[in-house]
Amino acid sequence: MSLPNHAPIPELYVSSDSAQKLKHEAAGLPSWDLTQRQICDLELLMNGGFHPLKGFLTEADYDGVVENMRLASGALWPIPVTLDVSEEFAARVEPGQDIALRDQEGVILAILSVTDRWTPDKKREAVSVFGADDIAHPAVNYLHHKAGPVYLGGPITGIQQPVHYDFKGRRDTPNELRAYFRKLGWTRVVAFQTRNPLHRAHQELTFRAAREAQANLLIHPTVGMTKPGDVDHFTRVRCYEAVLDKYPAATTHLSLLGLAMRMGGPREAMWHAIIRKNHGLTHFIVGRDHAGPGKNSQGKDFYGPYDAQELVKKHAAEIGIEVVPFKQMVYVQEKAQYFPIDEVPEGATVLDISGTELRRRLREGLEIPEWFSFPEVVQELRRTSPPRARQGFTVFFTGFSGSGKSTIANALMVKLMEMGGRPVTLLDGDVVRKHLSSELGFSKEHRDINIRRIGYVASEITKNGGIALCAPIAPYASTRRAVREMVEQYGAFLEVHVATSIEECERRDRKGLYKLAREGKIKEFTGISDPYEVPENPELRVETENVDVDNCAHQVILKLESMGLIKA
Ligand code: PPS
Repeated sequence: MSLPNHAPIPELYVSSDSAQKLKHEAAGLPSWDLTQRQICDLELLMNGGFHPLKGFLTEADYDGVVENMRLASGALWPIPVTLDVSEEFAARVEPGQDIALRDQEGVILAILSVTDRWTPDKKREAVSVFGADDIAHPAVNYLHHKAGPVYLGGPITGIQQPVHYDFKGRRDTPNELRAYFRKLGWTRVVAFQTRNPLHRAHQELTFRAAREAQANLLIHPTVGMTKPGDVDHFTRVRCYEAVLDKYPAATTHLSLLGLAMRMGGPREAMWHAIIRKNHGLTHFIVGRDHAGPGKNSQGKDFYGPYDAQELVKKHAAEIGIEVVPFKQMVYVQEKAQYFPIDEVPEGATVLDISGTELRRRLREGLEIPEWFSFPEVVQELRRTSPPRARQGFTVFFTGFSGSGKSTIANALMVKLMEMGGRPVTLLDGDVVRKHLSSELGFSKEHRDINIRRIGYVASEITKNGGIALCAPIAPYASTRRAVREMVEQYGAFLEVHVATSIEECERRDRKGLYKLAREGKIKEFTGISDPYEVPENPELRVETENVDVDNCAHQVILKLESMGLIKA
């Protein structure tokens, strides 16, 4: 018997012979270097995950999707899958022309036959698709700050799959999954979408869902792009692998989905359901706040907790997949068991640990109880998120030349080395200019390049668990903010304003530079003939007049202690 989830789904790839030929011919075409998100989208377009799409949306399809979640053909499609490009590139391409789509290393993955080129109304897209033009929503932020201003649409000819070096054996195309189900005789399979590590509540929920649907279970986590700040997918996959044997043998499969999520709540849940249908699934779990983006800029939820469930249920028959709706699962202490929140026995004690609370406990190295998660999962999470006192961080001193930045930084370095535990690197202004930025001068542009280089090195040190002490002048607030953003992806950032007045620096004039600056022999000298933007909210401001160096360094130590970055 041929079941609907067993038959192959159409892909957009050409045969390997044609691919070779096309690749050769495509070398001369205008080429677009795909962004990470576009590579994820292209992969699912080519392998049938986005069936019935045959390419990036045309303008008519886009309008239909934005306005009423339907393609021009009438088929249901809730999320715009568009090729956003720069104005310069768009100006070089005419509808009717082919372009080569390349990955970040220049490999040609596909050809796009451009039929449409237009400038979208991004505000309308944000409001209709995501519910508000509010950059607190990650997809709206992406739309306005990362996506190019012009969209190109048209059919795709697939040449090759994007290359993945990680977890190859756990990634399946829709047809590979269909073949797997066919081989095992799985006719009813329920999918669980997730972007988080699996804890006991998830395991209980998925286990119950499979039982209720009398189906096998596919744990189908997203590993393309998820919400900024999520646990990285390497850690998550190790966590998923650790819980696989907690399910009854031969009922559960783990497969990774290279989807770039938009965090679009209800519309995204429908999209997920369509993608699962394409992967051969018959049932789909939709829980509380599916693909939720968090709070808006007023501190309120973007969507209601069960809006996604309602919307998918409404369209489930048309999509051709059965929804398995689930309430939030909570732990009932007296029963030592998980229950859906609406089935908790009266008067019982309910325990739960939120994502924020979990992160706090990891950060501070506190206990994570067994009722909440599996020891193997907690161990993986602790490996990736050691407590703050073992994480890397950056101390960034800023102030005038001669303010005392280097002297305090040196004293601090010695104190930190005396404590031991983490390697310490001092990126002093003068030293950096000698080793990293010897070709640069002191124009705004050159100072920015210099500071960004320091920021990059500091962020790498922080990422690798070390301590970076930076001591440049760094006169511009926007550049300091950019450095903070680079570092904070990986660890704490402590800005210290060494607030010695320009008069005092000039009076000290340790290097004799102020005299030369006054005489006009050094141009663009900070504080004399060039600006310095005083930090508005540094973590610490130190005065150096009438305070000795040791004391200044000690103030930094106390601040680091209060931030949990060093422990007695
Ligand atoms: S910046 O703006 O952050 O890139 O500057 P920085 O790299 O920290 O500057 C390092 C030292 O260069 C000396 N110097 C000048 N400073 C400011 N303006 C001009 N035009 C200039 N020319 C040379 C100055 O001694 C800085 O030393 P520090 O360590 O701050 O005393």
